[in-house]
Amino acid sequence: MFYQLARQLMFCADAEKSHHFALGSLKTLQHTPLSALWRQQLPAKPVTVAGIRFENPVGLAAGLDKNADCIDAFSQMGFGFIEVGTVTPRPQVGNDKPRIFRLPQANAIINRMGFNNKGVDYLVENVKNARYKGVLGINIGKNKDTPNEQGKDDYIHCMRKVYPYASYITVNISSPNTPGLRDLQFGDALMDLLISVKNEQLDLAAKYQKYVPVFVKIAPDMDEVAVQQVADTLLQSKMDGAIATNTTLDRSLVQGLQFAEEMGGLSGAPVRAKSTTVVTQLRAAVGPEFPIIGVGGIESADAAKEKFAAGAQLVQVYTGFIYQGPDLIRSIVNSL
Ligand SMILES: Cc1cc2nc3c(=O)[nH]c(=O)nc-3n(C[C@H](O)[C@H](O)[C@H](O)COP(=O)(O)O)c2cc1C
Repeated sequence: MFYQLARQLMFCADAEKSHHFALGSLKTLQHTPLSALWRQQLPAKPVTVAGIRFENPVGLAAGLDKNADCIDAFSQMGFGFIEVGTVTPRPQVGNDKPRIFRLPQANAIINRMGFNNKGVDYLVENVKNARYKGVLGINIGKNKDTPNEQGKDDYIHCMRKVYPYASYITVNISSPNTPGLRDLQFGDALMDLLISVKNEQLDLAAKYQKYVPVFVKIAPDMDEVAVQQVADTLLQSKMDGAIATNTTLDRSLVQGLQFAEEMGGLSGAPVRAKSTTVVTQLRAAVGPEFPIIGVGGIESADAAKEKFAAGAQLVQVYTGFIYQGPDLIRSIVNSL
């Protein structure tokens, strides 16, 4: 009820302004009695994946709380886990505005934010100050002006900063909005990056006496052969899991709609089938145990079930959550 009203107001305004208004309000109110407006108590549906116990398998996907400003507010809504970021070593402003567009007829969003964020030091301070004790993923990326050949250094820099505070770390190589980033998903570039990440993870595990799993987030715009190759590299480099998928460049399901031709990544209902296909192909390639988080177009309990049936042990939501608010978390958790 509260969210329906808030949504009506926010959908009248520019998408990015609404986003900042919503996050600003959550940040200001998350430790006040007004947090009752979105707070909900959901039944525990615990699941253990990659050695981590999740209160329930429904998480907040990366990109909504890029700077970790609102961790407590999102936890109050009943998410089983929260992923913050993508964060880069240095703060950066992202692409020119407008850079986020709603396609309500398709329950979709197109964005080309370009990793706008306040940098990893700011994020870590927020994480330290949060009261949340549940599972926190921290999603890391590279600065736009770091050439791909040195991209590795940005990931390692962020790993070192976030390692003590993360339940898991996500290596994001699948945003379409940082030029060349997706090239890191293939061949030697991927293997080289992931071997360095693995070595760093083992060093940090020894240093802090705790093992923090590393997941790799991949794009939906890959054919079966490419998924197979990524899967082989994930296994060879001993990554701990995959997050499938990020947004798509494919516009075939939104043709003719307003904003359909805007550059950027398309999310929501139109990416659902593509993401599910990648989860299915990935599961076939990595075997039954390897952790997979399914994300893309989950806007109902049935859509979440589809990802679980395809082989995901956990799911995340972003666009469905923008359209439906905390009710979406409840309906998925209650259906499990
Ligand atoms: C506005 C917006 C910003 C996003 N930013 C990020 C990001 O910074 N890092 C990331 O890994 N994914 C990002 N994503 C992708 C989502 O985490 C998710 O993978 C994708 O949107 C598919 O899920 P959905 O259909 O539930 O939205 C973003 C998505 C949107 C809509």
